[in-house]
Amino acid sequence: MAKAPAKKQKQDDRKIIRIFDTTLRDGEQAPGNSMNIEEKLRIARQLQKLNVDVIEAGFPIASDGDFEAVKKVAQTIKGPEIAGLCRSSEKDIDRAWEALKYAGDKGRIHTFIATSDIHMKYKLQMEPAKVLASAVKAVKRAASYTPNVEFSCEDAVRTRLPFLAEVVEAVINAGATTVNIPDTVGYTIPFEYFNIIKYLKDNVPNIDKAIISVHCHNDLGLSVANSIAAVQAGAGQVECTINGIGERAGNCSLEEFVMILRTRKDILPFACNVATEHLTPASRLLTSITGIGVQPNKAIVGANAFAHEAGIHQHGVLMEKSTYEIMTPESVGLSANALVLGKHSGRHAFNKRLMELGYELDDEKLNRAFERFKTLADLKKEVFDEDLEAIAAEESRLEDKYRLGHITVTCGSFAVATATVQLEINGTPVRTAELGDGPVDATLKAIKKLTKTKAKLIQYNVGSITGGTDAQGEVTVRVAEGNHTVVGKGSSTDIIEASAKAYVHALNRLNYKQARLIESL
Ligand code: KIV
Ligand code: ZN
Repeated sequence: MAKAPAKKQKQDDRKIIRIFDTTLRDGEQAPGNSMNIEEKLRIARQLQKLNVDVIEAGFPIASDGDFEAVKKVAQTIKGPEIAGLCRSSEKDIDRAWEALKYAGDKGRIHTFIATSDIHMKYKLQMEPAKVLASAVKAVKRAASYTPNVEFSCEDAVRTRLPFLAEVVEAVINAGATTVNIPDTVGYTIPFEYFNIIKYLKDNVPNIDKAIISVHCHNDLGLSVANSIAAVQAGAGQVECTINGIGERAGNCSLEEFVMILRTRKDILPFACNVATEHLTPASRLLTSITGIGVQPNKAIVGANAFAHEAGIHQHGVLMEKSTYEIMTPESVGLSANALVLGKHSGRHAFNKRLMELGYELDDEKLNRAFERFKTLADLKKEVFDEDLEAIAAEESRLEDKYRLGHITVTCGSFAVATATVQLEINGTPVRTAELGDGPVDATLKAIKKLTKTKAKLIQYNVGSITGGTDAQGEVTVRVAEGNHTVVGKGSSTDIIEASAKAYVHALNRLNYKQARLIESL
């Protein structure tokens, strides 16, 4: 007898899980991930394309730079709600709203206070009753500005459940429309987290008046699994970041969570509004801005995520893709390293591709990028997306104190390497020459001398963007000064130039970071 076709689950039957992206706030707090305003705006535009529900754009009271970034995102981005984080103090909340008000009714105040015994005793040095009162007062203050108020019980997972329920009930009564139950230290496991969310559903009388949000850190590698368990228990919003970046081991990875919902819709009755074909460009854009790549075997966006190496797998995929592929590369926006443009491509096609990759350059930068593309297309037989991304990432950098001019190097197996480097420092050209232990060493020494930097070069890596001896080399450097560590990237078919670019990029980032004066929280 023929089997009855399996009943297809309709999209409409599925509960929509709201995606709250915190790449620009929690993600940016991770070492090496700080971004300037322009960079944050570029990520925000990509998040808009992804169609996330909420973009947490920063922590407005943390610094003037954070404030301006939240304000700019609130002024510019249309579609997603824009959230700003603040502690449960009037000063923080007022400052947050000052930046968020530009988003109008899409502005969300996200206020928090810790509720676990360990945090209340040692960090806050406050009695539980006082913490509860502060939470309620903060939410009321936030609600006086906007009905869109989220409250987070920091370290919720280690909070006594009856107290957690008491706080949640009180903040909902005070006007919170979203209550977040974070696993701040990445401690929980799926079964336990499921039960915490279920406990709140069963024990907080007004819980249906608010959306339960979850925010999982990845210290035990369980942030995505915990987020899935939480939505199964009734959570309606998941907080996550592109590439899973964030404090310590990071946050729940947006691309992994979203693709789990999409791939396992057969057993998970949930959906979300994310346009998944923008996931790979989002991941690459973030990598090109921060200079921090994902590991090759990272789910969804790692270089090997869709690569089938073993012969038996390749054979299976050629016969029928679904033998080894549970999702298609196209569904996450991976164009399989396709050759996209050649030396006869025009400016329009070039710009269109850059926009698809998440780069919107003004005319001057576009002209420079296009010139570089033409030169590269002359040098290389094939130009790939990765090449274009490397060029666009460099050309879209702004407000740089240092700009690399010319480099001349002499070296050989018998000669002492000498580099003459010309830089612009705040627009003024300067030049010097240095000897070194090889051409890269001589070049970086000359830059160090010109910039008078005290930063230490603590890591230097060189790789190739695509295959072949004509490939662009990509250099990644890590430099540190005091408490600040930054990563810089540079690319060129000439490895010495790529090294100089990476070093100058890192020094510019360090300069930006030092100027930012982040208050400790
Ligand atoms: O991890 C955490 O608890 C947070 C809150 C401020 C939401 O980032
Ligand atoms: Zn967090």
